[in-house]
Amino acid sequence: MPSFAELYAHLSTHNQCHLLQWWDHLDQRARDRLVAQLESIDFPLISRLSHEGHEDCSSGRDRAARATPPTQLIAQPKSPEDRDLWQQATARGESLLQDGVVGAILVAGGQGTRLGFDKPKGMFPIGPVSQRSLFQVFCEQLLARGRKAGTVIPYFVMTSDATHDETVAFFEENHFFGLKSRDVYFFRQGKLPAVDDQTGQILLADKGEIALSPDGHGGMVKALRTAGLLDEMRERGIETLYYHQVDNPTAIVCDPAFLGLHEMHQSDMSTKVVNKVSAEEKMGVLVSVDGQTQIIEYSDMPVARTREVEPDGTLRFRAGNTAMHVVRRGYLEELVDQGRDLPYHRAHKPVPYLAPTGERIQPEPTAKNAYKFEQFIFDILPMAATALVVEADRAAEFNPVKNQSGADSPDTSRAAICRLNREALRAMGAKVPDDIQVEISPLLALHELGLVTKIKPDQPIADGTILTP
Ligand code: UD1
Repeated sequence: MPSFAELYAHLSTHNQCHLLQWWDHLDQRARDRLVAQLESIDFPLISRLSHEGHEDCSSGRDRAARATPPTQLIAQPKSPEDRDLWQQATARGESLLQDGVVGAILVAGGQGTRLGFDKPKGMFPIGPVSQRSLFQVFCEQLLARGRKAGTVIPYFVMTSDATHDETVAFFEENHFFGLKSRDVYFFRQGKLPAVDDQTGQILLADKGEIALSPDGHGGMVKALRTAGLLDEMRERGIETLYYHQVDNPTAIVCDPAFLGLHEMHQSDMSTKVVNKVSAEEKMGVLVSVDGQTQIIEYSDMPVARTREVEPDGTLRFRAGNTAMHVVRRGYLEELVDQGRDLPYHRAHKPVPYLAPTGERIQPEPTAKNAYKFEQFIFDILPMAATALVVEADRAAEFNPVKNQSGADSPDTSRAAICRLNREALRAMGAKVPDDIQVEISPLLALHELGLVTKIKPDQPIADGTILTP
């Protein structure tokens, strides 16, 4: 372990000596922990990021000024020719699944503060009747899709310090929801320190603890490499990765049509968009900037630009980011090998800290005192040689759980699940009254044949029905 004098000398070159202020108060274990945290910090990077306008920081606002709507987009099928294309894509995607070259990534490091749920968001009981968790919905989809293709789809689940232990324990308690534990890989994302917005000094959370927070879902690329999972994927023969967020239970995990379109266009990264419902909706938007396809986050789009309309009255920047992507595994590897880091996004936030007087300060929610830094996975889009934008069916595929009430809440998401299930049962000939609550296990839903054998023509479906295999 470095001596106090060595640490002090190192920190003084970065103007961060205050981090050792309480050294004499710490026992050996606390000192070891603090030293480990200090060693994990890239001080020159943090110092650069603290200064606004540095090239490592993404200036979404500059890009927003030059943005135009995306030049190419594969829209939902309308004509017979479109339908042919989507059918071909589905067949192509299904054959990729059968070949066993597809894996799935779930980013589940966020804390779901907006939802007011004090556990990892994936544990949220979203099933309208069964109360099955978001994690269960996704795992059962993967299991069913794997079974249908006669293969196994490995699942790579990114956690953070805040969500890791509870997430792993939840999977274990639930026997991995039917998946084999060897096919589920948990990996923890990295952390970055928060800095004082006035001085650029890194904040202490406690006497021997630096105020660290997750480095954003873009940290996934480094975290996969650090955990050895890019190698593991290669060794398992995984070439194509479906990526999704933890908050959308109606995401079609490993959607064959999406996988197929990605493959047919030899895309490095493909992304699904839906039309935003309003200018104010909090979605990143797919745009083209200087000929490059990219996503600008909602917080970086000036209000006036979000409200621009086309001559027909539709929103000009309406292609909302659903955060469902397909990525070529080799592309992630190339980024790491070439040392191409993603830009960092700076967020001004209220962050609790330990003052030099030793007092713990808890800023009011509106009293922003610090900058936090995050990387966003979608910033690999403009670095791609080929990027593809595909329109999703919003009603069927995008019903996220973000807020406690109102739009994008458990109520709207559960209502959507019931609506989709009622539609599926009616399509099978069942008699389904309007507005009843009904839930079909993903294990059955993905096996259309399974559902057909369960449902007889004109079969009445009662409120509160749960259909399982
Ligand atoms: C996100 C997108 C937005 C998109 C919207 C669609 C970002 C920055 N914004 O917004 O463009 O239109 O979803 O629903 O992604 N996560 C981690 N680690 C982190 C931070 C987040 O794993 O450090 C995960 C979360 O667990 C979640 C996902 O990333 O699965 C999205 O995080 P969140 O911050 O809630 O994004 P939104 O603001 O909803």
